[in-house]
Amino acid sequence: MDSIADLAKDAQKSGERVGLAFDSIVIDGGVPLRGRIEVRGAKNLATKAMVAALLGDTPSILQDVPQISDVSIVTRMLDAYGVAVTSPEEGVLVLDPTNVERAHFAQIDALAGSSRIPILFCGPLLHRLGEALIPDLGGCRIGDRPIDFHMDALRAFGAIVDKSYEGIRITAPNGLHGANIELPYPSVGATEQVLLTAVRAQGVTELKNAAIEPEIMDLIAVLQKMGAIIWIEPNRTIFIEGVDQLSGYTHRAISDRNEAASWASAALATGGDIFVGGAKQPELMTFLNVFRKVGGAFEVHEDGIRFYHPGGPLKPVQVETDVHPGFMTDWQQPLIVALTQAEGVSVIHETVYENRFGFTDALVEMGADIVVHKDGLESVTRRVPRRKLEQAAVITGPTPLHGADVRVPDLRGGFSYLIAALTAEGRSTVTNLGIISRGYEHFVDKLEALGAQFTLEG
Ligand code: EPZ
Repeated sequence: MDSIADLAKDAQKSGERVGLAFDSIVIDGGVPLRGRIEVRGAKNLATKAMVAALLGDTPSILQDVPQISDVSIVTRMLDAYGVAVTSPEEGVLVLDPTNVERAHFAQIDALAGSSRIPILFCGPLLHRLGEALIPDLGGCRIGDRPIDFHMDALRAFGAIVDKSYEGIRITAPNGLHGANIELPYPSVGATEQVLLTAVRAQGVTELKNAAIEPEIMDLIAVLQKMGAIIWIEPNRTIFIEGVDQLSGYTHRAISDRNEAASWASAALATGGDIFVGGAKQPELMTFLNVFRKVGGAFEVHEDGIRFYHPGGPLKPVQVETDVHPGFMTDWQQPLIVALTQAEGVSVIHETVYENRFGFTDALVEMGADIVVHKDGLESVTRRVPRRKLEQAAVITGPTPLHGADVRVPDLRGGFSYLIAALTAEGRSTVTNLGIISRGYEHFVDKLEALGAQFTLEG
């Protein structure tokens, strides 16, 4: 067995492998993307399944793990807690939690960066070590609000939450017991927090208004393999019967539907034809309906989905982002680029996040006609009643896009800039590319495989 020091070095190396050696890409647009690429396991499952391994008494094996920097961050965090993470072959992680130990706060603080995953270590660490330290993930971002559902849930299990200047210290001097929890909103992260804590708490937990995203169902499958007893009832209610012991799992991560939807939108916007190997229809049904209504075509195959522009004009749509089975908030950014090429007025309502249209400013600079209404739109007929969190983007097309210099603001917004640059006539420079490698495996190689014209800059 390798020493912890060697593993730390390996983990460091795997971080470097996914980290990009360049910051900018110069794209000559106007070339339809054509070819085949593969998507692997979902970022939003793989990272959570890695945290779940902390709960087992024996090693876990996770397959189809993408080489993305979020996986690298969680690898290094687990390593800091004494979980030996090795990769016997590409895409496979072995996570051995036999020697879990306290980590130095500075180590965790340095690794956490802008990731939200550290929050999910709370339950497993409370069970394993009796204490969890959550670093300040960046100024005001760790105020009560963004993780209030998580902290309220942990308190309901009997945890004590203390805030300090460096972050949040959570302890459970009397252990954790089952709880009755109703989430104010079906939050993905808070649902995962409850699952990862309740499986080893004493007694039964009832979680109402849970998120039921496919990645959550896959996390439940992982936990069941470990020995957990979890009942999924109708109406977003989940019952978890706590058990005394969990063992390791062997699991193949669910496919990354967000990455698949991103490449689908890239095919549509550039007038191209992309076969996304590994894409699965069931998790993409809502996206596929919208894709078809916009005028895109797709074929579902055994080993993936072919997405293509069948010719003719694209059509405008009205879409609301929502929790599953609704249209995911992570799909709207790439789709909006395709909608700039549709004939007419499209409206996208963002109901999951308060402020997720900032990325459209750069698209407007590139020639798009997009107006963001911060308080939503009264006049548009809505499928679900007006909610507090919402803003609307009105996209009028078709507008030719032209090249520009743009800086990646966040993961999905950043990928939409790549699509816009590929769609635009002329040359664009997209900087701050490192953010895209958080969630898109080998995206530069994939662009090359699809015939994109570009050069990389340091
Ligand atoms: C997960 O974030 C995903 N991230 C997000 O993907 C995804 O957009 C989101 O779920 C919705 O599907 C990961 O899985 C790592 P939430 P999460 O808790 O769990 C509010 C991507 O690009 N809220 O469902 O953080 C929150 O502010 C990323 O891949 C609270 O108010 O999302 C938001 O408005 C981005 N208090 C809403 O709930 C809380 O304590 C939904 O957030 C928690 C959440």
